[in-house]
Amino acid sequence: MTLRVPLELTGLTKRFETQAGPFVAVDNVNARIGQGEFVCILGHSGCGKSTVLSIVAGLQPATLGGVVIDGKQVDTPGSDRAVVFQTPCLLPWLTARQNVLLAMKQAPSRRSDPKATPEHYLELVGVADCAAQLPGALSLGTQQCVSLARALSVEPRFLLLDEPFSTLDSLTRFDLQDTLLQVWERDRKTVLMVTHDVDEALYLADRLILMTDGPAATVGEIFTVPFPRPRERTAVLEHPDYYACHQRVLDFLKHHAHQSKVYVSA
Ligand SMILES: Nc1ncnc2c1ncn2[C@@H]1O[C@H](COP(=O)(O)OP(=O)(O)O)[C@@H](O)[C@H]1O
Ligand SMILES: [Mg+2]
Repeated sequence: MTLRVPLELTGLTKRFETQAGPFVAVDNVNARIGQGEFVCILGHSGCGKSTVLSIVAGLQPATLGGVVIDGKQVDTPGSDRAVVFQTPCLLPWLTARQNVLLAMKQAPSRRSDPKATPEHYLELVGVADCAAQLPGALSLGTQQCVSLARALSVEPRFLLLDEPFSTLDSLTRFDLQDTLLQVWERDRKTVLMVTHDVDEALYLADRLILMTDGPAATVGEIFTVPFPRPRERTAVLEHPDYYACHQRVLDFLKHHAHQSKVYVSA
């Protein structure tokens, strides 16, 4: 059986025009992401992970190449893709429920169940009891859950996550990783998640796209995570191959660290 490949990055290149001259952030990134796959993009800070994700989201254009969904080049945002950023970005004057409702109203046609309520999506990520609260009254972790509920509420085909847990303390981060895994195991959306946390990537992903360091960062290696699903944290950590996988990814990152940034001519 051939794997359906709804999302492709083809020769994706991004050059920024800076005061110091043109700067190629990412160069010729190629990857194929299968239906229902959970893929993590892993790399050092500043290597271009967010740039790639934002181009997939249609928030900025590629300079060359780009993103192909179902065989068509895509360069604008769409309700088929929902993004969760590093910081929650909720509207502070709306309650958790109203934040989710606003997103639902903007993408009504995608919903399989027209009667689904904001509470349904808040419940999916375990924060339904916070529906009436303003974001300012919620912890950062709960706000990030509401952001995830908001992203899920448009029933996207692709969930794009940009280091969504990196600002959280480790216990909250573990909790939210578990929540995300449960949600994903339930409906198997295609997930593209940026992280620089090796343990997080190994716990969550089917495959890791390992990025070389910038400038002109590109895909250095694509690594298949061998742990069986459904996953449970202790079982993953105790898997006989865990240490070797972890070490291999760390070795890649060490090998690609500390290259100095240079500006290149166009
Ligand atoms: N708008 C921009 N103008 C100029 N350079 C940018 C811009 N956005 C990002 N960059 C640069 O591109 C590189 C990749 O950034 P980014 O995608 O945010 O990295 P990461 O998410 O991996 O930390 C960095 O060197 C960053 O400084
Ligand atoms: Mg980033």
